[in-house]
Amino acid sequence: MATLIIENLKKSYDGKTQILKDISFTVKDGELVSILGSSGCGKTTTLRAIAGLTTKNSGKIKVNNKEISNVPVYQRNFGMVFQSYALFPHLNVFENVAFGLKMQRVSKSELKKRVDEILQITGLCELAKRYPAELSGGQQQRVSLARALVIKPKILLMDEPLSNLDAKLRVKMREEIRRLQQKFHITTLFVTHDQQECFAISDRVLLMNKGKVEQFDTPENIFNHPKNEFVARFIGYENFINCKNYSFNSKEDSNHARLLTIRPERIEIVGEPEGENIVTGKIIQSEFLGTGFCYLVKTKIGNLKVIVTNSEPIQLGNNVNLKLSADYLLPLI
Ligand SMILES: Nc1ncnc2c1ncn2[C@@H]1O[C@H](COP(=O)(O)OP(=O)(O)O)[C@@H](O)[C@H]1O
Ligand SMILES: [Mg+2]
Repeated sequence: MATLIIENLKKSYDGKTQILKDISFTVKDGELVSILGSSGCGKTTTLRAIAGLTTKNSGKIKVNNKEISNVPVYQRNFGMVFQSYALFPHLNVFENVAFGLKMQRVSKSELKKRVDEILQITGLCELAKRYPAELSGGQQQRVSLARALVIKPKILLMDEPLSNLDAKLRVKMREEIRRLQQKFHITTLFVTHDQQECFAISDRVLLMNKGKVEQFDTPENIFNHPKNEFVARFIGYENFINCKNYSFNSKEDSNHARLLTIRPERIEIVGEPEGENIVTGKIIQSEFLGTGFCYLVKTKIGNLKVIVTNSEPIQLGNNVNLKLSADYLLPLI
């Protein structure tokens, strides 16, 4: 059982620029939480501060309500997987994986049993005698994962562990990570800048921007109920309508909304300008997407991006009627 609680974490490297501005969140027992955000927003700094690899200026890090800030790194029993894998080049796969257990002074027979078991699970048995330089990126990544899991960590911290892999292997490995994390019920914090990866793997997502938490929620809620304009833009809502100037019906309460937003693929092109929430406009840009078309439509409420699939192309300059269904028009605070 391990619940990770972060309270009011603050960090500055130079004493001037605040890199982490009051970060608070909880990773529940057995949960996988992803930190998602663009490069430089403070993801790695957050992870390293939790691991104890970098100092923090203030805030608390608790495991099961016990403050651990003063516990040395090696006694925290955290598993860690980094972007660079950080394997020991002079040790073979077996020895790399066994390293953490040696440090813990586990008996020889127990060590062999546990390393063999994890090599089996991660599909590395046949590579046990190879050195890191003799492995592909995907294989090195699995060694790195095996090394983190073999110590049976209470908490697993992973910093963009899949970023060096090609697209196909990334998907395969993320499924594998999720499977093992659930099998061993490991409380996990997973850093990524890849939205799709993050949505696929996580129980909850912490979306970060410039050292602050913008939204902490399930992938479904982040996607369907972005809390503010930053979150909406980050996950692909490209149309924003100022509520001051225009009035639309939205299914959700929009009385206090400053902005309404709708995804490009949720706008429909309809034949007649009948019913509510219809705007007319002229197509000023058109892009072929393979599965459909992306149009930019100039309307009185601004340019709207519309993605349609399974339809014949519409010529540039044509007028179209757009339906912004109340079901998909979301109010933003
Ligand atoms: N050791 C360091 N010294 C000074 N500044 C750093 C250091 N590490 C990271 N930074 C700065 O902190 C900010 C956040 O970096 P980082 O946590 O690595 O972001 P991310 O992992 O989200 O890309 C960046 O502006 C980066 O330049
Ligand atoms: Mg990083």
